[in-house]
Amino acid sequence: MDTTKLIIALFFIFFFYLLLNSIVGTASASASEFCSSSLCGRTEPVIRFPFRLPDHQPVSCGYPGFDLSCGAFNQTLIELPNSGKFTVQAIEYGNQNIWLNDPQYCLPRRLLELNLSGSPFNGVFFQDFTLFNCTFDYKRYKLDPIGCLSGENYTIFASSSERAIRFLASKCSLVATVAVPVQWEFFQPVTTSDLSDDIRLSWGWPRCRRCEARGGQCGLVSVNSSVIECRNIRRHGLPRGARYAIIVGAGFPAFLCLLGFVYFICGRVICCSRWRQRPLMEFSVVVAPQPTITTAGLDGPTIETYPKTILGESCRLPTPDHNICSICLSEYMPKETLRSIPECQHCFHAECIDEWLRMNPSCPVCRNSPKSSPLTQAA
Ligand SMILES: *[C@@H]1O[C@H](CO)[C@@H](O)[C@H](O)[C@H]1NC(C)=O
Ligand SMILES: *[C@@H]1O[C@H](CO)[C@@H](O)[C@H](O)[C@H]1NC(C)=O
Ligand SMILES: *[C@@H]1O[C@H](CO)[C@@H](O)[C@H](O)[C@H]1NC(C)=O
Ligand SMILES: *[C@@H]1O[C@H](CO)[C@@H](O)[C@H](O)[C@H]1NC(C)=O
Ligand SMILES: *[C@@H]1O[C@H](CO)[C@@H](O)[C@H](O)[C@H]1NC(C)=O
Repeated sequence: MDTTKLIIALFFIFFFYLLLNSIVGTASASASEFCSSSLCGRTEPVIRFPFRLPDHQPVSCGYPGFDLSCGAFNQTLIELPNSGKFTVQAIEYGNQNIWLNDPQYCLPRRLLELNLSGSPFNGVFFQDFTLFNCTFDYKRYKLDPIGCLSGENYTIFASSSERAIRFLASKCSLVATVAVPVQWEFFQPVTTSDLSDDIRLSWGWPRCRRCEARGGQCGLVSVNSSVIECRNIRRHGLPRGARYAIIVGAGFPAFLCLLGFVYFICGRVICCSRWRQRPLMEFSVVVAPQPTITTAGLDGPTIETYPKTILGESCRLPTPDHNICSICLSEYMPKETLRSIPECQHCFHAECIDEWLRMNPSCPVCRNSPKSSPLTQAA
């Protein structure tokens, strides 16, 4: 009987689709897939891409300029090219922020010679502080001295308030004015500060914000590459293993039930139909479960056949007037990987369009369906 054959064929296609999907998923593992995170101590920040502990993680697990080390007291350290070593107090991977302090507990001394050039980091908010070297007896005033810079017979103050600066300038000698990368934007001038709060820096590249926000794993495409990609995006907040477990555990029985149901209905419709001789009827009923395969979007190998480009520093775009990705609405930046849909030439961030195509088999802009995968065509 034709219906039975068709159902069996559909069942095998579905089964091979799952099998192929899991094989492809593991075979195309990139450099980042073998990277595990690390730590210097139990309470220290987790170290993962773009940061790396050279003794514990291979070169391909980090990005140049992001190497960390562990200090004698298990503190996490980073060495900035023109400013020396700092302790890493915290790392915010999602927002690309890092908080630093001085291993010798005298951050103001480090701020006097802070030079971030040559490092991948820059401040987010800067506040100018003017430092003074004073010999007057300040105890009558509400002033907060910098203890670690002060001596027995002199005291150092830092201020961002014009009034306090005028007062200190009249009594003390000027040391320097420094731009401090503070943690938050200051809306009020600070009369005096001991400048011991962690400094907050941020990095612009590699940009893993979007990937982190989606629970993905950011990493290098391959060992010697400087191109990054986002892997293992958790759809519906589930890890990949759990997804497969659900597909196999719940999807299969559900699919079988559906097939049984369709077969039952089919049998009845065909039996009771007066137009039994019309093959169209039979065909249209049997084809009904097919959307469970086709609407799931495109498979990885098909998506991989769409052309990818990496933007140069000059940011030449395939279509120059479109410099915003219509999926995530952020601008294209140099070194980002774009992918275009061959049928309509629309471009997007590769990570955005890949995720989209896995769920919707059409271009998000013009809704044209790109050529379907060989598997769905076979169905
Ligand atoms: C550093 O960490 C190790 C274990 O990771 C621990 O045995 C050692 O006591 C720690 N050292 C200090 C100074 O906390
Ligand atoms: C920072 O260091 C670089 C390289 O050593 C130097 O060219 C630059 O002038 C320095 N910047 C400041 C503000 O000192
Ligand atoms: C402050 O001035 C004293 C002399 O009055 C000097 O010995 C000391 O080095 C100065 N400190 C700084 C940080 O400039
Ligand atoms: C501080 O001043 C006192 C009295 O003027 C002097 O005896 C002492 O040597 C000074 N200390 C330093 C470190 O210069
Ligand atoms: C990466 O580059 C180094 C030298 O630059 C080379 O020795 C190594 O074979 C390269 N590895 C790969 C996988 O291309």
